[in-house]
This record gives sequence, structure tokens and C-alpha cells, in this order.
Amino acid sequence: MTKILDGKATSLAIEAELTEAVNARLAAGRKRPHLAAVLVGDNPASRAYVGHKVKACARVGFESTLVEKPADISQDDLLAVVEELNHNPDVDGFIVQLPLPDHIDDQAVLEAVNPAKDVDGFHPVNAGKMSLDLPCFLPATPMGIMSLLDRAGIDTQGKHAVILGRSSIVGTPMALLLRRNGAPGNCTVTVCHSRTQDLAEHTRRADILVAAIGRAHFVTADMVKEGAVVIDVGINRIPDATKKSGSRLTGDVDFDQVAPKCSWITPVPGGVGPMTIASLMQNTLQACANKDT
Ligand code: GUN
Repeated sequence: MTKILDGKATSLAIEAELTEAVNARLAAGRKRPHLAAVLVGDNPASRAYVGHKVKACARVGFESTLVEKPADISQDDLLAVVEELNHNPDVDGFIVQLPLPDHIDDQAVLEAVNPAKDVDGFHPVNAGKMSLDLPCFLPATPMGIMSLLDRAGIDTQGKHAVILGRSSIVGTPMALLLRRNGAPGNCTVTVCHSRTQDLAEHTRRADILVAAIGRAHFVTADMVKEGAVVIDVGINRIPDATKKSGSRLTGDVDFDQVAPKCSWITPVPGGVGPMTIASLMQNTLQACANKDT
């Protein structure tokens, strides 16, 4: 029987824990956590993601600030925004929503963020600490997937995990976390990417398959082993004439075809997406608590 890995329900459980933690902080006379998000330009997907983050802050009792800048902001001016947030004592953590316009060097901006406020975990200091298994902020999507596996009680020990995609936001950190000596963890990990040969040969050996390539319905039933755990990170917009908007969101996995073969599978929407937001909230609480004396 296929079971649905319900990211929506799990994220609500995490939000309830966060709300309780905020109330306990306030009762103890401590600061309310505060997340800031920087949105450059008007990419509709980025705007929607940032909107979800701001709304989540309100649900758990965090303060939030949305800093909006036009697409033609200069890199220096954006770096000045980052510097202001680095020094603003009320802001515990902040994110710069990606992608940034082409004329801006993403890496220069990410490296300007104070690692202690880098709740996205994108600064090289946090990425380096993660690779050494030291305490740090983990990138929200892989962190959320680890929580989802953990809270569903899925045994990962000694399992073969295959990851489709090697991005620095998802694929690469996912491989590190699943490989870790811990629970969840202790997987044997294969990372596949655009140059991988005989891709299906790899995916068919996966006990845990993580799809993070950004191509709608890329993973088909013939690529999946019977009983596999399938995690779909994709958020792809495809035409759908039955919808008022004319389109809908779908994952990297052909859900209808693949689900019957799985022991567990995440839906899109309602799988990884809400867990990403919940993890960002957990990181923000941590950034705030790290400043407690
Ligand atoms: N763009 C896509 N995913 C992310 C994310 O997790 N954080 C930020 N800042 N931008 C993104």
C-alpha cells in the first residue's frame, strides 16, 4: 500500500511546536523571532514563495519584514541592503530570494550575509560546517525532507538513496545529509545529474529517490523500484485548461504512474514545499535563540 508523505500536515505539526516555543520565549521576557526576506524584481514564483514565508511567520508569531527592490537595483545597492540587515539588531535571520537578476552576482550577495543570520544556510561558512557535520543552518529544502523522513518513521539506515540533481540548494546538501552518520542518515548515496549515463539504471536501484531537476513528470514508473520511497522536490507550472489560471503546479515525478509502485511518496503540492517553509521558520527561531544570553 502506497502511503502519502504528507508535508502539509507535518509542517502544521512543526508550526504548532514553533508557536509554543514563541509563546514560551515571550512569557520568559525574551525577544520575538524576526525574519526578513529580500525580494528583487517581480518574478511571480519568487513573489509567491516569499509570500508563503511571510504568512508562515504570522502563523507562528514571528515578526517579518519584506524588503522589496526593483529588478534594476545595482549590486552595490543590494549589498548595502544586506549590510543593513546584518547590522539590524532586531532582525534575527534573513534570506535573499533567488534567483537574482542576471547583472547581479548571486554568490557575492550570499557571501555578504552574516553567517549567524543566514537562515537559508547558503553562506559558504554554513555549507562548510554542514559538510563537516558541525552545528549550522541547514538549507531549508533538504532539512525539511530529513524532517519528513524522520517524522514518518522511515528507516534510512543502510539504504541506497539516489538523488536527481546536484544544485547547491537541494541536490548537493541532500546527498551530504542522507550520507551522514545519524538518523535519518547512513544512506549509501548516488548523485545523478545532466551528464549521468544510463540514468534509469541508477534510479531503479534507489530505495529512496529524491527528484530535484525541475522537469515536469521526468520520473516515470519504469525508473522506480517496487517499494521505493519517492521524494518530489519539483515545482513546475504546466498548462491546464481545466484551471481558471490556465495552469497548475506539478512535480518532477509522474505521480499517478509512479505512486502505485512506492511505499511512500510526496505529493506536489503539499509535500516538500510546506516542509521547506517550516524548516526556514525553525532556523529563524534558532537564530533568535542563539542570541539569548
Ligand atoms: N529559491 C529557490 N529556493 C530558494 C530558497 O530556499 N531560498 C531562497 N532564498 N531562494 C530560493
